[in-house]
Amino acid sequence: MRPILKRLGTLAIAAGLSHCAEQLPQTSADGIFTAAQADRGAALFGQHCARCHSIQEFTGPAFNAVWAGTPASAMYLRIANTMPMDQPGSLGTGQTTALLAHILDSNGMPSGNQPLPGDLPWLTGIQMATAD
Ligand code: HEC
Repeated sequence: MRPILKRLGTLAIAAGLSHCAEQLPQTSADGIFTAAQADRGAALFGQHCARCHSIQEFTGPAFNAVWAGTPASAMYLRIANTMPMDQPGSLGTGQTTALLAHILDSNGMPSGNQPLPGDLPWLTGIQMATAD
């Protein structure tokens, strides 16, 4: 291969990689859930959580004190494995991700085009952002 072509090829690969890195979400403020998921989560919160909790326990200063800076998987697992307190483990993946979406939405974090997945390694790579 002529040196100039080889060089162009390397540049194209580097450009492709950096473009890809820019698109990967890194925090809960990067549009990691859909608006539909948050809506579903709001209804689920009313059905399964509101008898013991108000959303204020998971938003604003309370959210920042406990969850900001932790991996998103920490809250996912807390809900999936321990809540509702009288029926732990009863929520499915879709319900747990919807509840998490509702909590992020209630903290003013933006929705995006991709639904929040219940994929633990992926969630571990997402850091909870600070709420407004
Ligand atoms: C029967 C009452 C009850 C229900 C229903 C319930 N919880 Fe809880 N939840 C609690 C109690 C009590 C605690 C505190 C327990 C502790 O500190 O170990 C708690 C703690 C939590 C925490 C950790 C809070 C923190 O700041 O550390 C989260 C998150 C949570 N609940 C989410 C939920 C969600 C989401 C639902 C609905 C699916 C739910 N809970 C339903 C009683 C309940």
